[in-house]
Amino acid sequence: MIDRRTLVGGSAAITGAVTAGLNSRDADAAVTTTSLPKNVDLRGRYTEGRLERLPELDMESRLEFVQGFRKWSLREFGMKSSNRINQLVKEAGQDAKLSPPIDDVLAAVGDDLSVWTNARCKTTAQQLMWKNLVDGFHANEKGYLEELKAAENSGPGTLELNPALAVPEYARHEIHIQPGGYIGDPLGGYVYHYGVNVFTLNLQSEDAFHRELAAIIPVPEDGKLKRYLDIGTGVAQLPMAIKERFPETEVWGIDAGAPMLRYGHMRAAESSLDIHLAQRLAENTGFDDNSFDVVTAYILFHEVPTENARKILAEVRRILRPGGIFLPVDFKTFSQARPSASGRFNQWWDHVHNNEVWTEEYRSSDFIQLMTDAGLKVREDAPTLSAAFWNSIMGIKPV
Ligand SMILES: C[S@@+](CC[C@H](N)C(=O)[O-])C[C@H]1O[C@@H](n2cnc3c(N)ncnc32)[C@H](O)[C@@H]1O
Repeated sequence: MIDRRTLVGGSAAITGAVTAGLNSRDADAAVTTTSLPKNVDLRGRYTEGRLERLPELDMESRLEFVQGFRKWSLREFGMKSSNRINQLVKEAGQDAKLSPPIDDVLAAVGDDLSVWTNARCKTTAQQLMWKNLVDGFHANEKGYLEELKAAENSGPGTLELNPALAVPEYARHEIHIQPGGYIGDPLGGYVYHYGVNVFTLNLQSEDAFHRELAAIIPVPEDGKLKRYLDIGTGVAQLPMAIKERFPETEVWGIDAGAPMLRYGHMRAAESSLDIHLAQRLAENTGFDDNSFDVVTAYILFHEVPTENARKILAEVRRILRPGGIFLPVDFKTFSQARPSASGRFNQWWDHVHNNEVWTEEYRSSDFIQLMTDAGLKVREDAPTLSAAFWNSIMGIKPV
């Protein structure tokens, strides 16, 4: 990614001015000055070096504030709000642990000030997060578009884009209220990656979930993992982590969104990881029958209508080889875990206020049945991520 040096030019005078707090417009004006020697990165990277620090200190500081605000909204204040919801549901004569219907939860909550203030804080944190990222990256849009363009033909690894791809309407929504979503903002990959890092309270700076997942990914019984595919791969964090674990495996990732893939390809190339990214739909991947040993989908299905989930699962079965494994890591559906009243309220907030358009439909579906209908043999003891809300299912294509 463009670093501080590239953006600001970097003479000592400018470095001093930046440290003194120039804003991005002032910094832009300085781009033409003498470059610093190559490989000098004034801002550096986060702890282990996988994610470059945000290009400007003011942007980074604002995002740190937003992350702290979100953390407080989720934890100290969030716990109080959850306790209050459960208490109000109890006072309304229901058992808060027995997952009352959302209409009953909302009726019990009424216009309780602390619950709605907490919900408002979470929404505000999301809005502030995206605004700072969108404004910050777009202030230097030209430079970022240039670096994405320059990275397109760099390797190792390949990037296949398809501007003519008819992206389904459901995938165009501004999920998580991210402006432009995965498709509509050319800098969406940057915005998403840093946004998810704030959202997960810094767990993405070192690709923590993806590396945890790559470390436990199941391998087919015969031990062969020659070809691997991740569908709905986003900015390709999982394929990168898989390639690190299995350097000999041919690694693919597909996604509907070009902005996500372009950013992911640039990052993979910068990390010298030979992975192949393609702008294709999970419903119609274009790959040969029986051509993958393992297919994964990480947090894809809760963003997909059931009708399309059926098509995707049929496609996965087609491209998996007999004995091949499909691992769809996502949230537990209602049939896998019944949430408490406060849990249900928070899921509802995610759906209504965080624009998780399809998540209620996904949670209401019988995903295991959908996998079975697609011809996969389902196992409910799949390795999964450590937090309790993740499912642990995998499908095996019968031999
Ligand atoms: C929540 S993001 C998950 C991204 C990624 N798996 C990760 O680890 O962050 C969902 C991704 O699925 C993609 N997507 C949604 N529907 C798709 C489809 N039908 N085919 C391919 N990609 C799709 C979106 O563009 C988006 O990048």
